[in-house]
Amino acid sequence: MEADIAPEVSVSDEVDGLLAELFLTPEGLRDPYPRYERIQELTPVHHTALGHWMVTGYDDVNTLLREQHALKDPYRVFAPWVGKDEWESHAALRRLPNIMLWANPPDHTRLRKLAGFAFTNRAVQAMRPQIAQMVDNLADKLDAAGGFDYMKDFAFPLPAMATGRMLGLPDEDLPSLQGPMRAFQDIYELGLTPEALAACDEGAQFTDDYFAGLVESRRRSPGEDLLSALIAAKDGQDKLSQGELIGMCNLLFGAGFETTTNLLGNGMLALLRHPDQMAKLRDDPTLVPGAVEEMLRYDSPTQLGNRVTDGPVRIGGVEIPDGSSVVALVGAAHRDPRRYPDPARFDVTRNDAPVLSFSSGIHYCLGASLARLEAQIAFSTLLTRFPRLRVADGADIEFRPRLTLRGVESLPISVD
Ligand code: HEM
Repeated sequence: MEADIAPEVSVSDEVDGLLAELFLTPEGLRDPYPRYERIQELTPVHHTALGHWMVTGYDDVNTLLREQHALKDPYRVFAPWVGKDEWESHAALRRLPNIMLWANPPDHTRLRKLAGFAFTNRAVQAMRPQIAQMVDNLADKLDAAGGFDYMKDFAFPLPAMATGRMLGLPDEDLPSLQGPMRAFQDIYELGLTPEALAACDEGAQFTDDYFAGLVESRRRSPGEDLLSALIAAKDGQDKLSQGELIGMCNLLFGAGFETTTNLLGNGMLALLRHPDQMAKLRDDPTLVPGAVEEMLRYDSPTQLGNRVTDGPVRIGGVEIPDGSSVVALVGAAHRDPRRYPDPARFDVTRNDAPVLSFSSGIHYCLGASLARLEAQIAFSTLLTRFPRLRVADGADIEFRPRLTLRGVESLPISVD
């Protein structure tokens, strides 16, 4: 009788299998960390069977994000099965080349210059009293007697109110924008199907129409808000076009959906699951800013970034050829033991390498200080106002089956 011989699995096949689990199965999407860990053990840079390149180590991800020959190419990253000629017929796609997030120099430099004034540290710190007031108002409404759904009642409304107020959106318009904005943002997930794109288009068309109306009304009667300032903003003779203004509104308002929301959600969940760390924060509130960095590292709201090479690029000792699509797995980089000792441990006193959740290089998040400010005020206030926070009995906490923007749908909390 012949002995059973297990077929040999190559490193490459094993990594492809892990990536398939990561991106295509609900289990992988919900808990990517064990797969990241194994991929990192196997290889720093991987060329997948589907032709993409994946980079997972902290230094390599940072290098890729800062690499001037690794560019944005929305046409390659989103729905590559849609031809360029058909691109304009999709509301969710046609806006992308108009926004700085998906532009390259010199267009990117120009757009960033025209909007950057609103996000200087000084401008953001000036928003502190307003944000503190919003946090207090939301906390007032949380039901101190029983419990609340932290996502629905706090983590979703706060960022929408903060960026909405900044842009000059009436508060009463915010709820109607939430669904369409979330629907559009599913575009960022890899493996988009035609059905999913149709849902993204519907959401995108709604917000485009909404912002077109708002731009018109601010042109007629400017206010003290950021949108009026963006309409008036000039760099020499240069101004933002109508399409660019609508793109900018979508980008700025969309940034609260679901990045900042998921920072608030994933961060709170990490605290609830690590009561010793929550106790440390309660004892010493000066730890809150560092704790927010640890929340971003431990369970980042943004898990990956995409680039396309414009010339050969050397990363992790491997030459990635010209024209390659490369994915930076930021969530994996945050668990790199060479940068974060004992990376699976949630430790609010950690002071290791800076997080990559806000990217690195020229696309470094313009709203990073605003997101940090919102989170710092939110956690300081909630921990002070609610001395006993815990996950509600019987609550089933599920991560949405999404990877680019990672977060939970609902987080029921008891405060007794
Ligand atoms: C926790 C919250 C946030 C996270 C994790 C986050 C993450 C990111 C990331 C990863 C990028 C760059 C993507 C890349 O390199 O491909 C980015 C860009 C950007 N973010 Fe954020 N963001 C957050 C909140 C915000 C907020 C609140 C705003 C503004 C209201 C904002 C505005 C922007 C803009 C305008 C860009 C484009 C910058 C550029 O391309 O030069 N973000 N963000």
